[in-house]
Amino acid sequence: MMLRLSFLLMYLLNLATSALTAVEYTKNDFPPGFLFGASTSAYQVEGAANEDGRTPSIWDTFAHAGNVHGTGDIACDGYHKYKEDVKLMADTGLDAYRFSISWSRLIPNGRGPVNPKGLQYYNNLINELISYGIQPHVTLHHFDLPQALEDEYGGWINRTIVKDFTAYADVCFRQFGDRVSYWTTVNEPNAFANLGYDYGIAPPQRCSSSINHCSRGNSSTEPYITVHHVLLAHASVARLYRKKYQDKQRGYIGVNIFAFGLLPLTNSTEDAVATQRYYDFLIGWMANPLVYGDYPKIMKQNVGSRLPAFSDRESKQVKGSADFLGVINYYIVYIKDNPNSLNQKLRDWNADSATEIFFNLDTASSNEFPIQPLGLQRVLEHFKQVYGNPPMYIHENGQNTPRRSSLKDISRVKYLHAYIGSVLDAVSVCFCILEKKMGRNGSNTRGYFMWSFLDVFELMDGYESSYGLYYVDRDDPELKRYPKLSAHWYSQFLKGRSLSSDEDFALEKNFSGPSYGHDYQ
Ligand SMILES: *[C@@H]1O[C@H](CO)[C@@H](O)[C@H](O)[C@H]1NC(C)=O
Ligand SMILES: *[C@@H]1O[C@H](CO)[C@@H](O)[C@H](O)[C@H]1NC(C)=O
Ligand SMILES: *[C@@H]1O[C@H](CO)[C@@H](O)[C@H](O)[C@H]1NC(C)=O
Ligand SMILES: *[C@@H]1O[C@H](CO)[C@@H](O)[C@H](O)[C@H]1NC(C)=O
Ligand SMILES: *[C@@H]1O[C@H](CO)[C@@H](O)[C@H](O)[C@H]1NC(C)=O
Repeated sequence: MMLRLSFLLMYLLNLATSALTAVEYTKNDFPPGFLFGASTSAYQVEGAANEDGRTPSIWDTFAHAGNVHGTGDIACDGYHKYKEDVKLMADTGLDAYRFSISWSRLIPNGRGPVNPKGLQYYNNLINELISYGIQPHVTLHHFDLPQALEDEYGGWINRTIVKDFTAYADVCFRQFGDRVSYWTTVNEPNAFANLGYDYGIAPPQRCSSSINHCSRGNSSTEPYITVHHVLLAHASVARLYRKKYQDKQRGYIGVNIFAFGLLPLTNSTEDAVATQRYYDFLIGWMANPLVYGDYPKIMKQNVGSRLPAFSDRESKQVKGSADFLGVINYYIVYIKDNPNSLNQKLRDWNADSATEIFFNLDTASSNEFPIQPLGLQRVLEHFKQVYGNPPMYIHENGQNTPRRSSLKDISRVKYLHAYIGSVLDAVSVCFCILEKKMGRNGSNTRGYFMWSFLDVFELMDGYESSYGLYYVDRDDPELKRYPKLSAHWYSQFLKGRSLSSDEDFALEKNFSGPSYGHDYQ
């Protein structure tokens, strides 16, 4: 999880956001082959940051400069504990595990020879997963650009990245593609473009000085340049995969998009139109080029010459370059029309969208997310209606709790129960005639990955907040993992048990956590 944005204004609202979601369901209600898994990413879980030839990524640099609580130096020590963790995944009953490769571990400094120790690690991890029948879903780039490439030419704002990223992907396909069938090129580029190049609060901390205190950058151009280069890099990698590997390896290549759930702030027509516009800025920024070969009209109109243009050839290469799209969704924001922002002197992404967004973190005191599964349903519906219902995976979704809170994470159980139910309502079920429940909506969603498998190093919060099914005891040199209530709940669900809301709480009553001393209650 990356985008918490708790630094922005919170606005308490009482809009009804509950959906008609499935209350009682089992895994067997999902279409055959629908996958359930959990996610992590390399810098957040691996640790061993300076071991066996790995070089720093821009996140190592950012964390070591004290920008976040802690660093990923040790994280969950997944680098050494992968066998134990994969066993835990198997015991939990995961169909699939979504993780990322650390570019600077596999190819130190981003370019040149492959690091044999890095290669060995990912081979071991993949083989271990496969030995338990767990599908590896691999992300090539999850925020952790090699620092060397940032230093050398500015990373994603320089088009040279397309060539280097393609060469890195080539190594991954060649080395791992015989066992990996699902590749995501870049994790939520729209989020990292905004956080890293518009607000400048995440690496590489570039922005206009009037937006934040960045020493370099340009918030009115660089977010657009960044996403443009990501799209070209994605397309280049997809072309390589299709030409050289897909026949033999029979895998799929996609990219994922960060999406808030969106609702208009008021009933006004202006806010309804603004909500559609915000969809275009947030999702259409990537989905429109990937599906139709160009940016949404409204973006071209509002951003003008600051929005890079695709040549005819590039447009053809980007169009259709994703076999699937991933979506990352946590909660809803409310959209208000804000035409005045178009008169602003400095126009960044926010101003260009001519909207203002409001959060409804009504459980803000505990930092927990409100449970708003309608938002995810609407996002899936948007992909269905506007982008031709492409194959989709939910790549991240989960509940945030303070790290040192009870292992009886009832709010996470409630959250997962509600969102998985809403995904069930969104997807197609082919034997609809026999289906008692109405309103299943035909979304082409193929899988659901909760964030996160373990309590990892959270990118904006370090070790202060947690999303994991498993607590990691950081006071224990062995970093022992403990199941939370949500791990039991998810595991029961994955094993096909029927769990109504009442049974969620029966499970709670039966649950007794381990005793682990310390100040952890
Ligand atoms: C991009 O990087 C190359 C080196 O690979 C450099 O020659 C060029 O000046 C850079 N372009 C920009 C716009 O910074
Ligand atoms: C940012 O880019 C815009 C558009 O090219 C330009 O007008 C503006 O002067 C730049 N700002 C800075 C701080 O360089
Ligand atoms: C919005 O619509 C609802 C139901 O249609 C209505 O009850 C409510 O008063 C409206 N709110 C505003 C601010 O107009
Ligand atoms: C379900 O699909 C119908 C028809 O496409 C649409 O009108 C409705 O809003 C969808 N429901 C949700 C919750 O997305
Ligand atoms: C709780 O424990 C009782 C008695 O051991 C058992 O019958 C019941 O199935 C358990 N409930 C759940 C939800 O595991």
